[in-house]
Amino acid sequence: MIANPNVAPAADSATLIFPRGFRFGAATSAHQVEGGTANNWTLWEQAARPDGTPRVRPEDRWGVGPDHWNRFPADIQLMQRLGLETYRLSIEWSRVEPLEGHFDGSALSRYRWWCELLRQAGIEPMITLHHFTEPVWLTHKGGFESADGVDAWLRFVRRVVRELADLVDLWITINEPVGYALMGWWFGEWPPGRSDLAAATGVVENLATAHARAYHLIHDIDTHDADGDGRPCRVGIAHNIVAFRPRRRWIPLDHVAARVLDRAHNHAFLEALSSGRLNLSIPTLHRHHARDGRWRATLDFIGVNHYFPLDVSIARGHPGLIAADFGRGVIHSDLGWTMEPGSLRSAIELAAGYRLPIIVTEHGACDGDVPDARRRTFLLESLAVLRDTVRAGAPVEAYLHWSLLDNFEWTHGYAARFGLFAVNRGTGERTMTSAGEAYRDVVTANRAACGR
Ligand code: BGC
Repeated sequence: MIANPNVAPAADSATLIFPRGFRFGAATSAHQVEGGTANNWTLWEQAARPDGTPRVRPEDRWGVGPDHWNRFPADIQLMQRLGLETYRLSIEWSRVEPLEGHFDGSALSRYRWWCELLRQAGIEPMITLHHFTEPVWLTHKGGFESADGVDAWLRFVRRVVRELADLVDLWITINEPVGYALMGWWFGEWPPGRSDLAAATGVVENLATAHARAYHLIHDIDTHDADGDGRPCRVGIAHNIVAFRPRRRWIPLDHVAARVLDRAHNHAFLEALSSGRLNLSIPTLHRHHARDGRWRATLDFIGVNHYFPLDVSIARGHPGLIAADFGRGVIHSDLGWTMEPGSLRSAIELAAGYRLPIIVTEHGACDGDVPDARRRTFLLESLAVLRDTVRAGAPVEAYLHWSLLDNFEWTHGYAARFGLFAVNRGTGERTMTSAGEAYRDVVTANRAACGR
């Protein structure tokens, strides 16, 4: 194995003790684990790219997947084996409202039942209300490109929150709004497959409005304190933070380029929800400025999704003359992503600048090796970095690992294995990975340290 130049302190589970009250959990999203969903992604993955190549390899298409939909009670036992205290899951809009205006009470009841089971198991549910997928009828209306799309989503949000308010205190409105807009509307890699940067930034603006309106709606409806902490509910987003850094430290333009991406990808949306001003610019390509007083102060916490750092440089032939690459000479996951524990600290420090509580809503790596030694080391070293960052004063409340199970990794299908439990694709059997064992040991040591 190549030595990692930015290793964290050597870590073993017994030394990874976090401050009292810190919580450990895991995260999933509905389309990635439930199986049997029919939404914009199911259509997308079946179509070919304009050049005739498949968008998702046929053997990796969705289908039944890990079948979380039917195995949820058994999967709670997996969470208990890890000792988890929080579980982040999303509600699949296309199940709850398969036709516009027609809500499926049985789908809502099932999600309610899951939240009841989680509570009975002593696990706090955190609910995501939009995690990349939507009903096909919404796509036909223009999705979040139109104000109608925002109104439609808010009707869905109202129904879900009414159904779950007495069981749920932690709400994520939208998962990775900037990435969702850019992947779908600019890079064309995800549905609806557009290549229009102005449309993408328009979607980002609509998502800020969608979030802000949902924020107030949820606070209006969810007045029930389900976990007895004195707060009926808290609302945030799960925001993807990339640690952008100059590839060549001696070249000033690489610093400028890293800063441009940092502003646009990491800060623009958080600033909009703090100050009411959206400033999403990539010089030479596009500038999008907007203001809306409704966006101001609409985060109770910041959910940080963090996976990797990117090395940024000025380069001809790239959009906006900026290239962003995974570092060389370091450890990579099966998707080629740089596995650098220290970059979690950068992401947390960036979020901490907004002076709000932080929950790590996603962090992890795909490693299909058996045993998954790269992921195990990465997880333990990342947790050591996180512990030190928290001890230094960062207001992080919880760490939710991505992911509980091997799942459908969007265009990469099942090739990328992110699970603390490996899933056998033929039988659905779940097996705890060595990273899962290490995580269980950390959680157990922390629970013991504070008598939980
Ligand atoms: C997304 C997940 C995804 C994970 C790993 C995050 O950006 O929220 O849906 O599976 O990254 O790629």
